[in-house]
Amino acid sequence: MGSPARVAVIGAGHVGLPTAATLATMGHVVSCAESNSERLAILRRGDVPIFEVGLLDAVRREVRDGRLTFVETASEAAADAEFVFMCVPTPERPDGSADLSFLERAARQVSQSLRPGAVVVNKSTVPIGSTRLVEETIGRRDIVVVSNPEFLREGTAVLDSLSPDRIVVGADDQEAAARVGALFGATGAPLVVTDAATAETIKYVANTFLATKLSFMNAVAALCEAVGADVRDVILGLGYDRRIGFDFLRPGPGWGGSCFPKDTQALLHIATEAGYDFPILRTVIETNTDQMRRIVGKLDTALRKHLRLSETENGIAGRVVAVWGLTFKAGTDDLRESPALRICAQVLAAGATIRAFEPTLTPESAEAKVPRALRREWNSMGLDESLLDGMVLTATPSSASQGASALLLLTEWDEFRRAQLGSLRADLLEPVIVDARNVLDPGAARSAGFTYIGVGRP
Ligand code: UGA
Repeated sequence: MGSPARVAVIGAGHVGLPTAATLATMGHVVSCAESNSERLAILRRGDVPIFEVGLLDAVRREVRDGRLTFVETASEAAADAEFVFMCVPTPERPDGSADLSFLERAARQVSQSLRPGAVVVNKSTVPIGSTRLVEETIGRRDIVVVSNPEFLREGTAVLDSLSPDRIVVGADDQEAAARVGALFGATGAPLVVTDAATAETIKYVANTFLATKLSFMNAVAALCEAVGADVRDVILGLGYDRRIGFDFLRPGPGWGGSCFPKDTQALLHIATEAGYDFPILRTVIETNTDQMRRIVGKLDTALRKHLRLSETENGIAGRVVAVWGLTFKAGTDDLRESPALRICAQVLAAGATIRAFEPTLTPESAEAKVPRALRREWNSMGLDESLLDGMVLTATPSSASQGASALLLLTEWDEFRRAQLGSLRADLLEPVIVDARNVLDPGAARSAGFTYIGVGRP
């Protein structure tokens, strides 16, 4: 294991905070900068502003043991550091490219206070070539900038940071790259050293490949429905092949979150600018948009069939739909680019009202208008805000389903697996379940009298 280093982490978000806490856990002395005063106040009173398994404990322990402190400015954090990790957001611009203004601002802020010989580490996902941009913004010949993309997932970020599959470091200066790699020596993970542009490319390709795997499996689920096969057994038959593996084969309502939608668009933008059309990536993105539509289509068809409406009638209009789960996956309170929200918008636009339950959102009363956090994400996804007038948030799953015509299950929270089907049957006006995450047992649901529709299974 390498010796402890003095490290600065700029940004205490979904990447920065787990990175800061786990670098401290590995023995390094970490100063983490958070410019948002509300978030900084939360951190300074010993709490964390995001829901992430194991993060609160790690932060409290490292603060108590003196290896982790929180400061307001990037320049203050960087002043004494040998390594400065840039963990600021790189959101998507309307044209699909990445907005680098946070990164440039952070680079300008640290440029004056950096010690001679300090290494700046780009952890944010950035367009290929951005490591050079940071180098130019800092504008000091004595400072090396390296790329060290993160591969951590929300919900398991602490675990992923402590036991990564690999560490990728990209730099022209091989000695600096080796020093950054050594910071993670305690993890025992293989180290891949490349040039900066290659490291940046690896990050985009990793996320795009995983998104491709998922779009492919969502398409396979549609095929299974057409031919009467069961996608869950297809997964078993595929996953034991070690060249394929079991990970990222579960079909669902479509992939979302703060990374896959942004990074697939960004890589498409990068490729197009460079003169390559990348047709397979276009199809991966289109398949994902289709998948959300398919889920709404399942609800429409099931309701139409159940209510004996004609092919041309809208099964959704005028109904009350119960929705379970709104986050982009289980294990996080993150609503960014959640397929569940896009699906809700389509259901509302088709003329239904929604009673939604989400375990990480507490309504102000037993049943309330959607909270501000949800409204913010809704707007930033470009969804029509007026549609939210038709949606309420409930305090329990059963208060969402009471009096609804159908249940739409959109996030794979464990508590939904344990749902009491008997009381759910009594709650719903029509016994219709569309399970976009395949979490319920179709046999048990049908025995309880439901019309059950999953994804890719009979
Ligand atoms: C993703 C990558 O997995 C991380 O390696 C990467 O570091 C991160 O993006 C990032 O760029 O920062 P994350 O966005 O936290 O992590 O979420 P994932 O666990 O990858 O899930 C992404 C989406 O795929 C979710 O909507 C999830 O529900 C969906 N998914 C995942 C499926 O539908 N089926 C699966 O089998 C797995």
